[in-house]
Amino acid sequence: MRQQEVVPAGNEWREANLRMLKGSVVDRIGSGWMLITAGDVRTDKGAWNTMTASWGALGVIWNMDVAICLVRPSRHTFSFINKVDSYSLSFFDGQREALNVCGSMSGRDTDKAAAAGLTPIVFPDAAVGFKEATEVISCGKLYTHDLAPAHFLDKEIAKNYPDGDYHRLFIGRVLSLHFKEDAQGAGRRTGV
Ligand SMILES: Cc1cc2nc3c(=O)[nH]c(=O)nc-3n(C[C@H](O)[C@H](O)[C@H](O)COP(=O)(O)O)c2cc1C
Repeated sequence: MRQQEVVPAGNEWREANLRMLKGSVVDRIGSGWMLITAGDVRTDKGAWNTMTASWGALGVIWNMDVAICLVRPSRHTFSFINKVDSYSLSFFDGQREALNVCGSMSGRDTDKAAAAGLTPIVFPDAAVGFKEATEVISCGKLYTHDLAPAHFLDKEIAKNYPDGDYHRLFIGRVLSLHFKEDAQGAGRRTGV
């Protein structure tokens, strides 16, 4: 279904680079979770979808700061992230209930923002994030790869795929880190 229309991000947002992300990346993704959001809201403000993820990575490849996420083909978000050349990762301080909603209901039949109590916003670079987020990372797609069991060196990995719904991996160049200074505490970011 059509999602709620995005509204312009407010002036509480600042822009920096990935190195200004606060905290342990493993903790932020693996314990705090994130929302992967993709769509084309330049022409249609409701043409986006989002889903919760707790697997992914942030780092450096090809001398670029990159973000990696994995999306199963069965996700509604899959068709959105495939269609466009960018996506975003939104991080939160808490919001567990909202992240559970976005990780259990599908945008195929749910107005996710309404169900989760989130406000979809769009940044000047067209990245879609959420007013309630503490950071939104904008990524430009660089590479995709479909995971295949033939490459599972540890056969235990196959346990994650009882239905053969192998993830497609996306590596994106980090274009910017949007953050709210007040939500994070001025001076706590130490990156360059
Ligand atoms: C904590 C958590 C982590 C998740 N991580 C992923 C993930 O990394 N990749 C994925 O494809 N699905 C993941 N999911 C499942 C999707 O978020 C879920 O299926 C969602 O409802 C898909 O929504 P959609 O159909 O609107 O895209 C996760 C769910 C939860 C609750």
